[in-house]
Amino acid sequence: MVKAGLEDIVAATSSICDVNGKEGRLVYQGYDIHDLAEHSTFEEVVYLLWNGRLPHKQELETLSDALRKNAAIPAEVVKAMKAFPKEANSMEVLRTAVSMLSMYDPDDELSDRDANVRKAIRLTAQLPTIVAYWDNIRNGKEPVAPNPKLSVAANFLYLLKGGEMPDELSTKSMDIALILHADHELNASTFAARVAAGTLTDIHSAVVAAIGTLKGPLHGGANQEVIKMLTKIDKLENVQPFINKMFEDRKKVMGFGHRVYKTEDPRASHLRKMSEELGKTKNELKWFQMSRKIEEMVLHDKGFYANVDFYSASVYYMLGIPTDLFTPIFAVSRMAGWAAHVLEQYDNNRLIRPRAEYTGPKNLSYVSIDKR
Ligand code: COA
Repeated sequence: MVKAGLEDIVAATSSICDVNGKEGRLVYQGYDIHDLAEHSTFEEVVYLLWNGRLPHKQELETLSDALRKNAAIPAEVVKAMKAFPKEANSMEVLRTAVSMLSMYDPDDELSDRDANVRKAIRLTAQLPTIVAYWDNIRNGKEPVAPNPKLSVAANFLYLLKGGEMPDELSTKSMDIALILHADHELNASTFAARVAAGTLTDIHSAVVAAIGTLKGPLHGGANQEVIKMLTKIDKLENVQPFINKMFEDRKKVMGFGHRVYKTEDPRASHLRKMSEELGKTKNELKWFQMSRKIEEMVLHDKGFYANVDFYSASVYYMLGIPTDLFTPIFAVSRMAGWAAHVLEQYDNNRLIRPRAEYTGPKNLSYVSIDKR
């Protein structure tokens, strides 16, 4: 019996990430996401996901330094981005720019583990630059160079705002958001990356496959749909009629439900807190208040819990990030997990090639075209 959507099918062994849907637990290499969100940094989580343990001071410094030093993107890629249509879909821009990066990567022809790690570092450092540069370019602004003193989170905000230093709360919120989205076991885009890597194609190709997969509204695209809904609703008092109408029309409420979690998504609890905190600090509490009301209604009436995309929408919005960059930012973070899974796949590879249960017609005799 084939299970639609491969629901509950275990398709790989992996030590990277454990999702416990019943208990609502998310664990990276043995560490609970709550601990990591509270005490760690994105750079440290990248090390953890790729190496299976937390780094010592020097190891963390070496990786952080490499990420800072590799944030620039080749001038040829920037030039190409300037030629893209200004209204282009930002995930298509990201997918195309990452595809270009491989041709300029100094290790393009190499596929040993060290070269793959160097490529993974470059990609993790370069994705935020592409996303921020795209926003600069389409708004007619000349991008500034990455700041070699800043973390991945701070640098992204710095580049996005054309060289303006981000405040501490914004940097911290961005960093936590990156930690929370960094990996999630065999989600659709990671599975796509592993299938690609399983053919022993290069890591850039695997990431391009992953970005294309993340773009879909049932996966990474959901957070953009959430903010569209929130801006349409606009006021707290409009929530009830709006959501009731969605229920009546049997429409899915974006940012709710999950294939694996049947209880609260542990990432949502952090993002909810961040949404409230940012709302208070930036005097924009209405986004949190509307979200909270929607959450109560969807849980009460439909039994669906908020997922990672629901509160990340208001968080990103209050960080001043343009709506259509929400999914690209998801990619910036998930790059850490994609790389971890691709490296794990290469380390113990076998081509991924499942079967399909044939349901088409059988034993037909060919009829020439003039007799059909
Ligand atoms: N709002 C309302 N109803 C929902 C829903 C939502 N967010 N999510 C699922 N449902 C309903 C479906 O309509 C379906 O109802 P039916 O059986 O009456 O047709 C049932 O629940 C099962 O949904 P299905 O889409 O088959 O579940 P899935 O396990 O394949 O999907 C998601 C999981 C995440 C794709 C799904 O919950 C969804 O589309 N959520 C909204 C998009 C989203 O937030 N994606 C980000 C995921 S992190």
